[in-house]
Amino acid sequence: MAKPVGVITRGTTAPNRLRRIDRWLIHSECGRLRRSDNPVVVDLGYGASPITAWELRERLHQYVDSRIRVVGIEIDPERVAAAQPLSDDSLSFIRGGFEVPVTGQVSVIRALNVLRQYDESDVAQAWNTMGHRLETGGLLIDGTCDEIGRRAVWVGLRKTESGELEPQSLTISTHLQSLEKPSDVAPRLPKILIHHNVAGEPIHRLLTQLDDAWERCASHAPFGARQRWIETLKYATAHGVETLDTQARWRLGEVTFPWKLVS
Ligand SMILES: C[S@@+](CC[C@H](N)C(=O)[O-])C[C@H]1O[C@@H](n2cnc3c(N)ncnc32)[C@H](O)[C@@H]1O
Repeated sequence: MAKPVGVITRGTTAPNRLRRIDRWLIHSECGRLRRSDNPVVVDLGYGASPITAWELRERLHQYVDSRIRVVGIEIDPERVAAAQPLSDDSLSFIRGGFEVPVTGQVSVIRALNVLRQYDESDVAQAWNTMGHRLETGGLLIDGTCDEIGRRAVWVGLRKTESGELEPQSLTISTHLQSLEKPSDVAPRLPKILIHHNVAGEPIHRLLTQLDDAWERCASHAPFGARQRWIETLKYATAHGVETLDTQARWRLGEVTFPWKLVS
């Protein structure tokens, strides 16, 4: 077997850590997964415990379609061996890297807290390598979150008709009651953005605009953090910040921007 592409990194994970990402994935991909003849979702780099891959399968079966197969891929053979007791007809664990060594093409790849431990210069190549395994219209999620999943930020990349993998969106999802200001998510920016959060860069401008809107909406704080967040996003969009979603998602402490805002 060819050597897996990538390196073994810290395996930190925790139950329920990726719930915000899974909720968005289900919302965004539900229709496409249901229409697929053979829906396969990959959890790349599941870590020291396979729990988040197992949770992903449970959620996809409960809310989307019980035909979906989830494949957990880990570059560390010991983590693959340790995960085997959880495998069954719709959940498997294999050794591999960014080349995603599965038969056929896959619908979704979720790679959370994986690229964070690489150099920024490795990201484009890793995206492309994973992208080769995606079906047309397939989605790659590359993101980062904190240890207990209260702050998460991810890039959504889609395989286009022309075979290109195109970054399309940036999503922020946060626990609102513990948020002091929107830029609290900065330490959780994906690798492709985290080193660019400095004055003059688009991601810095976006977070600054959100912080400014948050300040201007301080009078809504007595109605709760959720209300203040919604008003913040209403204010920001009214002042030129484009989003790809609506208040129905903002209520969840989430917001999705077009990638062009930060690219
Ligand atoms: C911090 S853990 C993330 C665990 C889980 N995804 C989460 O977010 O809780 C990162 C894992 O990715 C694995 N990993 C790193 N590079 C990889 C690659 N190229 N292919 C597969 N797994 C990789 C590491 O071995 C490690 O177990």
